[in-house]
Amino acid sequence: MSKFQFARIDRLPPYVFAVVNDLKMKLRRAGEDIVDLGMGNPDLPTPKHIVDKLCEAAQNPKNHRYSQTKGLYKLREALALWYQRKYGVELDPESEVITTIGSKEGLAHLALTLINPGDVALVPTPAYPIHPYSIIIAGGDVRSIPLLTDEGTFDSEVFLESLIKAYKESWPRPKVLILNFPHNPTTATVELPFFEKIVDFAKENNLIVIQDIAYAEISFDGYVPPSILQVKGAKEIAVEFYSLSKTYSMAGWRVGFAAGNKEIIHALYRMKSYLDYGMFQPIQIAAIIALKSDQSCVEEYRKIYERRRDVLVEGLNRIGWKVEKPKATMFVWAKIPEKFQSMGSLEFAKMLLLDGKVAVSPGIGFGEYGDKYVRFALVENELRIKQAVRGIKRAFEKYGLRNINV
Ligand SMILES: Cc1ncc(COP(=O)(O)O)c(C=O)c1O
Repeated sequence: MSKFQFARIDRLPPYVFAVVNDLKMKLRRAGEDIVDLGMGNPDLPTPKHIVDKLCEAAQNPKNHRYSQTKGLYKLREALALWYQRKYGVELDPESEVITTIGSKEGLAHLALTLINPGDVALVPTPAYPIHPYSIIIAGGDVRSIPLLTDEGTFDSEVFLESLIKAYKESWPRPKVLILNFPHNPTTATVELPFFEKIVDFAKENNLIVIQDIAYAEISFDGYVPPSILQVKGAKEIAVEFYSLSKTYSMAGWRVGFAAGNKEIIHALYRMKSYLDYGMFQPIQIAAIIALKSDQSCVEEYRKIYERRRDVLVEGLNRIGWKVEKPKATMFVWAKIPEKFQSMGSLEFAKMLLLDGKVAVSPGIGFGEYGDKYVRFALVENELRIKQAVRGIKRAFEKYGLRNINV
């Protein structure tokens, strides 16, 4: 028995992605060429003009001091301009926007700000782990809502019904609802009327809505993901998290934002003022440039993801693994072929790694409802993705499968 007790850590399940990662590292050390479509860690470089600004700002000793918890005003203003430009949403940079050290830090500390032991949060499942576990770490309880139908599709009406039912069946009444559209890992998307219904319901029931819009700029075939803040009155109950990690390939820089309800933003600021002094200032200055300068890099990167999506989905379909093209995100969420479903997603992912030399994320890592799926991240180039498809074909053939159908 351990000498110490870590009650919060004990509430966290084992990190299943580590199993695939460890095996991947072992194979690589043994000289295998693994195509890594596991973690959603963008491979594209941050555009040069943003890196150049960072280097320049880092030379100025003024930028070496503590910065501000809320983030530089100009950075908050740049985010407000992004909302105005993209969504026609007006935000007051002073009271309705705060910067966070990546949206993950913001989500975690917002949960700590809002949740008291015993408070309940509604979280769709499968989920990006910080969405449910920020609540668990804060000492709250999670009520999961299945995001997909039994057939594996997303139907916003069915989901809304499940959400309302879960709310009505919970006691104490849930305090918070966490949404994430476009969704990681399932790639589910919604239209604005969905958010209108959510806002109506939340206002009626005094429910706080946290919406994560990390993939706002990575959408395909003309689809534009809506922001919950476009809904009139949303600011009464909602905050939305945005991040520069994916849009500008700045994952390692840790630049995120929360925007919306003043009272919640202020509470998050109060919490963070005890915890951090904001990001390194040169990073903030470069982030302002990212949001305010020429946006052609955003379109360039979006197109790269779109082509990778096409190569992967068309390739998988060609070898008989039927998957749909997602309308947004940098992921493909694929139902495990029938023949392999009883293995569960972790064993299936290990099989793809050992026999196909391709790393993917097992769906179980996103919650119980994910176990019939794996998630591909579009973080290698088109040639490597083609190589991955060939590897998967070889793996399937080893088990006697040719042109399988899910
Ligand atoms: C839905 C979602 N939210 C947040 C994040 C993390 O963003 P950040 O790098 O800003 O912490 C990710 C990263 O994969 C994500 O998929």
